[in-house]
Amino acid sequence: MDLGRSVPEALVWQLLENGTWAPTHGLTEPWKFHVFAGEARVRLAEALPMIYKEVTPVAEVREDKLVKLGQNPLLAPVVIACCVEKRGGEKIPFLEEVEAVACAMQNVMLSATAAGLGSFWSSPPVLGSAAFGSWLGLGEGDLCVGLLYLGWVKEGRVMAEVPRRPVAEKVVWHPDTP
Ligand SMILES: Cc1cc2nc3c(=O)[nH]c(=O)nc-3n(C[C@H](O)[C@H](O)[C@H](O)COP(=O)(O)O)c2cc1C
Repeated sequence: MDLGRSVPEALVWQLLENGTWAPTHGLTEPWKFHVFAGEARVRLAEALPMIYKEVTPVAEVREDKLVKLGQNPLLAPVVIACCVEKRGGEKIPFLEEVEAVACAMQNVMLSATAAGLGSFWSSPPVLGSAAFGSWLGLGEGDLCVGLLYLGWVKEGRVMAEVPRRPVAEKVVWHPDTP
């Protein structure tokens, strides 16, 4: 992403508003977006490796992961930690709240694409940890489900197109008659 070109705050708000048009069972609107832009990304870049070390058994700590966690938030002008706030009580299964937030995130990404921005959904291992939740200030039972990286694509750089399997492999079209 082009770090020399900032993403206007108004555009970020517009993308997030589009996010909120996602389907939501019982209208619980379980999404909460924690936006890190500018210098706030530095605090995120400091926190992620620290929390990774805290929640990973010493023998499993990987140096490459530590480095990446500290670098990635600085590689995009905007990073949004997308979280699920549990508001459905007993009625709405938590899985459905997660699904609604995933839909909201896809709305944000589609809107970003339409605006000419690049976007990337990442889920570093610390994301679901209580330590990261408490660093973000999430309530008990709430969950961060993804970091969305947003930014203008560097000039002359073609966005990677990762091919998908043919759709026919993923469809069972049930015939009119058995
Ligand atoms: C829930 C979820 C978590 C993901 N986490 C990661 C991740 O941690 N690291 C990664 O490289 N890609 C991750 N991805 C995949 C990328 O966001 C992306 O979809 C993939 O690289 C294919 O690129 P494309 O969607 O632009 O075609 C995740 C996707 C989803 C839906």
